[in-house]
Amino acid sequence: MPRILSGIKPTGRLHIGNYFGMMRPAIDWQDKGEALYFIADYHALTTVHDPAALRANTRGVALDFLACGLDPAKATLFKQSDVPQVCELTWLLSVLTPMGLLERCHAYKDAIAKGFAASHGLFAYPVLMAADILIYDSDIVPVGKDQKQHVEVTRDLAIKMNETFGANLLRLPEPSILPELATIPGLDGQKMSKSYNNTIELFLEEKALKKKIMGITTDSTPVEAPKDPATSSIVALYRLFASEGDVAQMEADFRAGGFGYGDFKKRLFAAIWEHFAPARARREEIERDPGYIDEVLRRGAERANALANITLQRVRAAMGL
Ligand code: ADP
Ligand code: TRP
Repeated sequence: MPRILSGIKPTGRLHIGNYFGMMRPAIDWQDKGEALYFIADYHALTTVHDPAALRANTRGVALDFLACGLDPAKATLFKQSDVPQVCELTWLLSVLTPMGLLERCHAYKDAIAKGFAASHGLFAYPVLMAADILIYDSDIVPVGKDQKQHVEVTRDLAIKMNETFGANLLRLPEPSILPELATIPGLDGQKMSKSYNNTIELFLEEKALKKKIMGITTDSTPVEAPKDPATSSIVALYRLFASEGDVAQMEADFRAGGFGYGDFKKRLFAAIWEHFAPARARREEIERDPGYIDEVLRRGAERANALANITLQRVRAAMGL
């Protein structure tokens, strides 16, 4: 049975890019092996320095993930920092991590470009991520495309460890990236991302969601004129939620002209609202039982600790500690 592992940072509210890029594939995997999913609060600390916000976001991620269908009877959900053993493994990996490998990582370069201070934590981020993956002997890592390089770094480090301290010391993971969903566009057509301020959050109030959708950037083609469905982020997003027939209808209406962008945005809003209706109901149910999330995370931490200890002891022994 393969072991599946992924993590998501509690840096804000979860959005449609997170949902299709990572959460839904992760939820689908829970039936196919032993799945372990964690809330990457250590990683979030590289950019979030407000303890109350970090706590609230961490709970929010757990709530949203559970609402979307993560089933704690099938998958283990836990907080990264409930397994501090990953920090020790991070150090053990660090001693073999070439500086050049980290210097080439896009995420670090992007964070600096966005104006974050160049901290050691940001630089060493991929080593902590490698420790996350390797400590659970993970086989498969479902992530969005932007995380592919980090899984490659993880493999490189595992190979180096195995060459130095013993074959089969660490298991080599494979990323799992769904090509058709590789990048979900945001309100402005760029990749949907918290850092671009172009997100559609999963559990917005009806009015707020409508306002966001109506704010999708469009060109100034008049209502009567035909429009190109291939370049429209409305169509790209609609495709994620609507049936093939409804998508074909929207594409035909784009080409025919006579429909304004506002009309298409209303159809998109209706499709998104309907798609998340069951998850919204489940979310309200979970919110009525405040002890539920704590209990899920507690049990998750127990399982994750047991697995992490096995790997860490093996690595410590192999390295002479
Ligand atoms: P953000 O860019 O909003 O900060 P994160 O970097 O926290 O999002 O991403 C968490 C997970 O969601 C990762 O696996 C990432 O690949 C996936 N993801 C985020 N945005 C998108 C997107 N627009 N399309 C596809 N996957 C995404
Ligand atoms: N770096 C990932 C992100 O930004 C989150 C993450 C941390 C992760 N550790 C992981 C993802 C281990 C997969 C496996 O989305």
